Amino acid sequence: MDERQHVEQCMEIIDTYRGGYFNGRPWLRDAFESIPRSHFVPDRVWWPERDTDGLYPVFDRTADPERWLEAVYTPTAALITQIADGKISPKDGPTESSDFTSSISCPAVVVQMLHHLDPQPGEKVLEIGTGTGYNAALLAHRVGAGHLTTVEIDPSTAEQARATLHIRDAPAPHVFVADGEGGYTPHAPYDRLISTACVQRIPPAWLEQVKPGGVILTPVATPFGDDALTLLTVDDVGHAKGRLVAAVRFMRVRSQRQRRPWRELGWPRLPDFELTAGPDGQSIRQS
Ligand SMILES: C[S@@+](CC[C@H](N)C(=O)[O-])C[C@H]1O[C@@H](n2cnc3c(N)ncnc32)[C@H](O)[C@@H]1O
Repeated sequence: MDERQHVEQCMEIIDTYRGGYFNGRPWLRDAFESIPRSHFVPDRVWWPERDTDGLYPVFDRTADPERWLEAVYTPTAALITQIADGKISPKDGPTESSDFTSSISCPAVVVQMLHHLDPQPGEKVLEIGTGTGYNAALLAHRVGAGHLTTVEIDPSTAEQARATLHIRDAPAPHVFVADGEGGYTPHAPYDRLISTACVQRIPPAWLEQVKPGGVILTPVATPFGDDALTLLTVDDVGHAKGRLVAAVRFMRVRSQRQRRPWRELGWPRLPDFELTAGPDGQSIRQS
Protein backbone atom coordinates (compact mmCIF):
# COMPACT_ATOMS: atom_id res chain seq x y z
CA MET A 1 0.00 0.00 0.00
CA ASP A 2 1.27 3.50 -0.72
CA GLU A 3 1.01 6.38 1.75
CA ARG A 4 -2.23 7.81 0.27
CA GLN A 5 -3.96 4.44 0.69
CA HIS A 6 -2.71 4.22 4.28
CA VAL A 7 -4.09 7.70 5.00
CA GLU A 8 -7.49 6.80 3.53
CA GLN A 9 -7.70 3.49 5.39
CA CYS A 10 -6.68 5.15 8.66
CA MET A 11 -9.34 7.86 8.24
CA GLU A 12 -11.99 5.31 7.41
CA ILE A 13 -11.24 3.31 10.57
CA ILE A 14 -11.28 6.45 12.72
CA ASP A 15 -14.59 7.46 11.09
CA THR A 16 -16.21 4.06 11.43
CA TYR A 17 -15.08 2.84 14.80
CA ARG A 18 -14.09 5.93 16.69
CA GLY A 19 -17.24 8.02 16.98
CA GLY A 20 -17.04 9.95 13.72
CA TYR A 21 -14.65 12.55 15.08
CA PHE A 22 -14.14 14.03 11.61
CA ASN A 23 -17.89 14.76 11.42
CA GLY A 24 -18.70 18.44 11.59
CA ARG A 25 -14.96 19.20 11.39
CA PRO A 26 -14.14 19.47 7.65
CA TRP A 27 -10.94 21.37 8.57
CA LEU A 28 -9.75 18.36 10.57
CA ARG A 29 -10.35 15.97 7.68
CA ASP A 30 -8.47 18.35 5.41
CA ALA A 31 -5.57 18.74 7.87
CA PHE A 32 -5.25 14.98 8.39
CA GLU A 33 -5.29 14.34 4.64
CA SER A 34 -2.87 17.09 3.70
CA ILE A 35 -0.25 16.90 6.49
CA PRO A 36 1.71 13.64 6.18
CA ARG A 37 2.14 12.06 9.61
CA SER A 38 5.14 10.25 8.14
CA HIS A 39 6.99 13.57 8.01
CA PHE A 40 6.94 13.75 11.82
CA VAL A 41 7.72 10.16 12.77
CA PRO A 42 11.45 9.55 13.34
CA ASP A 43 13.12 6.91 11.16
CA ARG A 44 13.51 4.63 14.17
CA VAL A 45 10.70 4.31 16.73
CA TRP A 46 9.62 1.76 19.30
CA TRP A 47 6.34 -0.09 18.82
CA PRO A 48 4.30 0.31 22.04
CA GLU A 49 3.67 -3.40 22.63
CA ARG A 50 6.14 -6.06 23.69
CA ASP A 51 7.19 -8.68 21.15
CA THR A 52 7.31 -12.40 21.97
CA ASP A 53 10.83 -11.88 23.41
CA GLY A 54 9.36 -9.47 25.97
CA LEU A 55 11.09 -6.45 24.42
CA TYR A 56 9.60 -3.37 22.74
CA PRO A 57 10.71 -3.72 19.09
CA VAL A 58 12.17 -0.91 16.99
CA PHE A 59 10.63 -0.21 13.58
CA ASP A 60 13.23 1.10 11.18
CA ARG A 61 12.20 3.10 8.12
CA THR A 62 15.32 2.12 6.16
CA ALA A 63 15.40 -1.55 7.06
CA ASP A 64 11.65 -2.19 6.64
CA PRO A 65 9.85 0.81 5.07
CA GLU A 66 6.51 -0.98 4.67
CA ARG A 67 6.29 -2.07 8.28
CA TRP A 68 7.33 1.41 9.42
CA LEU A 69 4.66 3.11 7.24
CA GLU A 70 1.99 0.69 8.40
CA ALA A 71 2.89 1.58 12.00
CA VAL A 72 2.71 5.30 11.22
CA TYR A 73 -0.91 4.94 10.06
CA THR A 74 -2.13 2.37 12.59
CA PRO A 75 -5.09 4.28 14.05
CA THR A 76 -4.70 3.10 17.62
CA ALA A 77 -0.91 2.91 18.00
CA ALA A 78 1.17 5.64 19.62
CA LEU A 79 4.79 5.30 18.48
CA ILE A 80 7.39 5.74 21.17
CA THR A 81 10.06 8.29 20.36
CA GLN A 82 11.84 8.57 23.72
CA ILE A 83 12.42 6.29 26.70
CA ALA A 84 13.75 7.27 30.14
CA ASP A 85 14.10 10.94 29.15
CA GLY A 86 16.49 9.97 26.35
CA LYS A 87 18.79 7.68 28.35
CA ILE A 88 17.79 4.86 26.00
CA SER A 89 17.91 5.55 22.26
CA PRO A 90 16.10 3.79 19.39
CA LYS A 91 19.62 3.23 18.02
CA ASP A 92 20.17 0.86 20.99
CA GLY A 93 17.46 -1.39 19.53
CA PRO A 94 14.63 -3.24 21.30
CA THR A 95 14.33 -2.58 25.02
CA GLU A 96 12.56 -4.00 28.03
CA SER A 97 12.04 -0.56 29.58
CA SER A 98 8.50 0.79 29.55
CA ASP A 99 9.57 4.16 30.90
CA PHE A 100 8.08 5.95 27.86
CA THR A 101 8.71 9.69 28.05
CA SER A 102 7.79 10.95 24.56
CA SER A 103 5.72 9.66 21.68
CA ILE A 104 3.62 10.63 18.71
CA SER A 105 0.10 10.01 19.98
CA CYS A 106 -2.03 7.55 18.01
CA PRO A 107 -3.99 9.02 15.07
CA ALA A 108 -7.40 8.17 16.56
CA VAL A 109 -6.68 10.06 19.79
CA VAL A 110 -5.11 13.01 17.97
CA VAL A 111 -8.30 13.37 15.90
CA GLN A 112 -10.53 12.81 18.94
CA MET A 113 -8.71 15.53 20.91
CA LEU A 114 -8.81 18.07 18.08
CA HIS A 115 -12.50 17.33 17.58
CA HIS A 116 -13.19 18.18 21.22
CA LEU A 117 -10.85 21.18 21.27
CA ASP A 118 -12.67 22.58 18.20
CA PRO A 119 -10.26 25.49 17.59
CA GLN A 120 -11.47 28.31 15.36
CA PRO A 121 -9.40 30.18 12.76
CA GLY A 122 -7.39 33.02 14.31
CA GLU A 123 -7.80 31.86 17.92
CA LYS A 124 -4.76 31.82 20.16
CA VAL A 125 -3.94 28.28 21.21
CA LEU A 126 -1.34 26.90 23.62
CA GLU A 127 -0.23 23.29 23.25
CA ILE A 128 1.60 21.60 26.13
CA GLY A 129 3.92 18.80 24.96
CA THR A 130 5.18 19.48 21.42
CA GLY A 131 6.67 15.99 21.06
CA THR A 132 7.25 15.42 17.33
CA GLY A 133 5.35 18.57 16.31
CA TYR A 134 2.65 16.63 14.43
CA ASN A 135 -0.30 17.85 16.51
CA ALA A 136 1.16 21.37 16.37
CA ALA A 137 1.19 21.19 12.56
CA LEU A 138 -2.49 20.13 12.51
CA LEU A 139 -3.40 22.94 14.91
CA ALA A 140 -1.39 25.52 12.96
CA HIS A 141 -3.22 24.47 9.80
CA ARG A 142 -6.47 25.49 11.53
CA VAL A 143 -5.65 28.57 13.62
CA GLY A 144 -2.66 29.89 11.66
CA ALA A 145 0.94 29.24 12.65
CA GLY A 146 1.32 32.69 14.21
CA HIS A 147 -1.57 31.97 16.62
CA LEU A 148 -0.18 28.72 17.98
CA THR A 149 2.34 28.44 20.79
CA THR A 150 3.64 25.00 21.68
CA VAL A 151 5.91 24.19 24.62
CA GLU A 152 8.06 21.14 25.23
CA ILE A 153 10.02 20.47 28.41
CA ASP A 154 12.67 18.28 26.77
CA PRO A 155 15.21 20.44 24.89
CA SER A 156 16.30 17.81 22.35
CA THR A 157 12.69 16.87 21.57
CA ALA A 158 11.82 20.55 21.09
CA GLU A 159 14.81 21.08 18.82
CA GLN A 160 13.89 18.10 16.68
CA ALA A 161 10.26 19.28 16.42
CA ARG A 162 11.37 22.76 15.46
CA ALA A 163 13.55 21.37 12.69
CA THR A 164 10.78 19.06 11.44
CA LEU A 165 8.24 21.89 11.39
CA HIS A 166 10.61 24.26 9.60
CA ILE A 167 11.51 22.01 6.68
CA ARG A 168 7.84 21.71 5.73
CA ASP A 169 6.50 23.97 3.02
CA ALA A 170 4.16 25.69 5.51
CA PRO A 171 4.51 28.46 8.11
CA ALA A 172 5.89 26.99 11.36
CA PRO A 173 4.40 27.68 14.81
CA HIS A 174 6.46 28.95 17.75
CA VAL A 175 8.11 26.06 19.65
CA PHE A 176 9.53 26.91 23.08
CA VAL A 177 11.43 24.86 25.63
CA ALA A 178 9.42 25.40 28.79
CA ASP A 179 7.66 23.59 31.60
CA GLY A 180 4.09 23.68 30.34
CA GLU A 181 2.74 23.48 33.88
CA GLY A 182 3.53 27.18 33.97
CA GLY A 183 1.69 27.70 30.67
CA TYR A 184 3.55 30.20 28.54
CA THR A 185 3.10 33.70 29.95
CA PRO A 186 4.65 35.81 27.14
CA HIS A 187 1.89 34.85 24.67
CA ALA A 188 -1.04 34.67 27.14
CA PRO A 189 -3.99 34.95 27.25
CA TYR A 190 -5.16 32.02 25.14
CA ASP A 191 -8.54 31.06 23.72
CA ARG A 192 -7.77 27.36 24.05
CA LEU A 193 -5.19 25.20 25.76
CA ILE A 194 -4.54 21.58 24.85
CA SER A 195 -2.21 19.36 26.82
CA THR A 196 -0.86 16.19 25.22
CA ALA A 197 0.63 15.10 28.54
CA CYS A 198 -1.48 13.96 31.48
CA VAL A 199 -1.93 15.88 34.75
CA GLN A 200 -3.15 14.74 38.15
CA ARG A 201 -4.12 18.29 39.03
CA ILE A 202 -4.99 21.19 36.67
CA PRO A 203 -2.04 23.61 36.96
CA PRO A 204 -3.15 27.00 38.34
CA ALA A 205 -1.22 28.81 35.55
CA TRP A 206 -3.57 27.31 32.98
CA LEU A 207 -6.57 28.86 34.73
CA GLU A 208 -4.82 32.23 34.76
CA GLN A 209 -3.70 32.15 31.14
CA VAL A 210 -6.89 30.97 29.42
CA LYS A 211 -9.44 33.73 28.76
CA PRO A 212 -12.86 33.63 30.45
CA GLY A 213 -15.06 31.41 28.26
CA GLY A 214 -11.93 29.70 26.88
CA VAL A 215 -11.33 25.99 26.86
CA ILE A 216 -8.82 23.61 28.48
CA LEU A 217 -8.55 20.09 27.08
CA THR A 218 -6.27 17.71 28.94
CA PRO A 219 -5.91 14.10 30.04
CA VAL A 220 -6.43 13.83 33.81
CA ALA A 221 -5.21 10.82 35.80
CA THR A 222 -7.99 8.70 37.33
CA PRO A 223 -8.08 5.90 39.93
CA PHE A 224 -9.32 3.50 37.20
CA GLY A 225 -6.12 2.88 35.21
CA ASP A 226 -7.02 4.92 32.13
CA ASP A 227 -6.73 8.70 32.09
CA ALA A 228 -9.81 10.81 31.39
CA LEU A 229 -9.75 13.29 28.53
CA THR A 230 -11.27 16.31 30.23
CA LEU A 231 -12.87 19.35 28.57
CA LEU A 232 -13.15 22.43 30.78
CA THR A 233 -14.47 25.95 30.26
CA VAL A 234 -12.82 28.74 32.22
CA ASP A 235 -15.00 31.34 33.95
CA ASP A 236 -14.23 34.97 34.73
CA VAL A 237 -13.09 34.33 38.31
CA GLY A 238 -10.32 31.86 37.51
CA HIS A 239 -12.22 28.59 37.89
CA ALA A 240 -12.81 25.93 35.27
CA LYS A 241 -15.60 23.40 35.03
CA GLY A 242 -16.39 20.63 32.58
CA ARG A 243 -16.66 16.93 31.85
CA LEU A 244 -14.57 13.82 31.44
CA VAL A 245 -15.26 13.05 27.77
CA ALA A 246 -13.24 9.91 26.94
CA ALA A 247 -10.83 7.32 28.31
CA VAL A 248 -7.29 7.79 27.00
CA ARG A 249 -3.73 6.95 28.07
CA PHE A 250 -0.99 9.55 28.19
CA MET A 251 2.45 10.16 29.65
CA ARG A 252 2.49 12.36 32.74
CA VAL A 253 3.79 15.92 32.71
CA ARG A 254 7.25 15.69 34.24
CA SER A 255 6.65 17.19 37.65
CA GLN A 256 3.45 15.20 38.20
CA ARG A 257 4.95 11.77 37.61
CA GLN A 258 4.88 10.90 41.29
CA ARG A 259 1.40 9.80 42.20
CA ARG A 260 -0.46 11.78 44.83
CA PRO A 261 -3.28 10.38 47.01
CA TRP A 262 -6.56 10.47 45.06
CA ARG A 263 -8.35 12.19 47.95
CA GLU A 264 -5.99 15.17 47.61
CA LEU A 265 -7.01 15.46 43.97
CA GLY A 266 -10.75 15.71 44.56
CA TRP A 267 -11.74 12.18 43.50
CA PRO A 268 -14.76 10.53 45.14
CA ARG A 269 -13.77 7.48 47.21
CA LEU A 270 -14.27 4.21 45.29
CA PRO A 271 -16.91 3.01 47.83
CA ASP A 272 -18.93 6.04 46.70
CA PHE A 273 -19.59 4.34 43.36
CA GLU A 274 -22.54 1.95 43.33
CA LEU A 275 -22.90 -0.95 40.88
CA THR A 276 -26.30 -2.48 40.18
CA ALA A 277 -26.46 -5.68 38.09
CA GLY A 278 -29.50 -7.43 36.62
CA PRO A 279 -30.48 -9.72 33.72
CA ASP A 280 -30.77 -6.67 31.45
CA GLY A 281 -27.32 -5.34 32.20
CA GLN A 282 -25.75 -3.22 34.86
CA SER A 283 -25.33 0.39 35.84
CA ILE A 284 -22.67 2.19 37.81
CA ARG A 285 -23.44 5.48 39.50
CA GLN A 286 -21.94 7.75 42.07
CA SER A 287 -24.01 7.02 45.19
C1 LIG B 1 2.53 12.27 24.11
S1 LIG B 1 3.92 13.30 23.88
C2 LIG B 1 3.29 14.61 22.87
C3 LIG B 1 2.88 14.26 21.49
C4 LIG B 1 2.90 15.44 20.56
N1 LIG B 1 1.85 16.39 20.81
C5 LIG B 1 2.98 15.05 19.11
O1 LIG B 1 2.15 15.52 18.30
O2 LIG B 1 3.92 14.32 18.74
C6 LIG B 1 4.03 14.17 25.44
C7 LIG B 1 5.14 15.21 25.45
O3 LIG B 1 4.95 16.05 26.60
C8 LIG B 1 6.24 16.46 27.01
N2 LIG B 1 6.13 16.98 28.39
C9 LIG B 1 6.07 16.29 29.56
N3 LIG B 1 5.97 17.14 30.61
C10 LIG B 1 5.94 18.39 30.08
C11 LIG B 1 5.85 19.67 30.65
N4 LIG B 1 5.75 19.83 31.98
N5 LIG B 1 5.87 20.74 29.83
C12 LIG B 1 5.97 20.57 28.48
N6 LIG B 1 6.08 19.38 27.87
C13 LIG B 1 6.04 18.29 28.67
C14 LIG B 1 7.07 15.20 26.87
O4 LIG B 1 8.45 15.50 26.85
C15 LIG B 1 6.54 14.64 25.56
O5 LIG B 1 7.32 15.06 24.47
